[in-house]
Amino acid sequence: MNSLKLIDGKAAAAGVLRQVKADIARHGIHPALAVILVGDDPASHVYVRNKVLRAEEAGIRSLEYRLPTDIPQADVLALIARLNADPSVNGILLQLPLPAHIEEALALQAIAPSKDVDGFHSENVGGLSQGRDVLTPCTPSGCMHLLQATLGDLSGKHAVVIGRSNIVGKPMAALLLQAHCSVTVLHSRSVNARELCRQADIVVAAVGRPQMLDASWLKPGCVVIDVGINRIEAGGRSRLVGDVDFDSALAVASAITPVPGGVGPMTIAFLMKNTLTAALQQANTPRSLSEAPCLSTC
Ligand code: GUN
Repeated sequence: MNSLKLIDGKAAAAGVLRQVKADIARHGIHPALAVILVGDDPASHVYVRNKVLRAEEAGIRSLEYRLPTDIPQADVLALIARLNADPSVNGILLQLPLPAHIEEALALQAIAPSKDVDGFHSENVGGLSQGRDVLTPCTPSGCMHLLQATLGDLSGKHAVVIGRSNIVGKPMAALLLQAHCSVTVLHSRSVNARELCRQADIVVAAVGRPQMLDASWLKPGCVVIDVGINRIEAGGRSRLVGDVDFDSALAVASAITPVPGGVGPMTIAFLMKNTLTAALQQANTPRSLSEAPCLSTC
């Protein structure tokens, strides 16, 4: 009998969003999220549209800034500074990727840490690695929610994270470590990656290569979280697949996230949760001097 469990990210995300909506009503607050989209990357437009729709459903006001590809970097930084200084804005999301002439690290670092709902500012990255209570990146936070809902306590599990991006791989490893896992991070220079992966109780695949991991990478009974969203052409039609060969993994894993309908909805749900958290923290904490508007220019 195949006792494999499909991990339903759509249902889990709906639960998180329901809780966010209920908390917003309970606290009587009206959080606002500013979303900045630079350029015309089609996938980014789809993501931003989904984020705005989910925000409205959760009771979060969204402010959209769609900027032309050739906008000067200084104008993007000026917009971020204006949003940092606006007390009616609780969260700021700068959609990635950015056009090449805008320095990603500089732009992300310009967002006030208290409004950094992506958790990409170095203050939040550092806080996560030190185990402080900070805003954490949405996709890894969503993966942790799914893993804890599937396995309960993660203490002592061997987790393998494949991919070392700032958005997923590195923060994912930090969150798993905080949950008392033994963590291995594999990447393009890893030696014997498949053998190392086959020792894992938990596999988080975030490489961006369609169907790269088949059953030969997996220990029987492991739990697989597939972060990849790749569009492929097959049999004359286009479809979305993950970094894991789903049909092959089915025979080996005890539980797995589908693509689509697994991790994707969780990323958006945790963006809303982070916006609520930011709004509550801002309501209880006077802004620090470093986040206040610059007196010399105002
Ligand atoms: N582009 C792809 N994933 C993300 C994300 O989690 N946050 C932002 N800001 N941009 C992205």
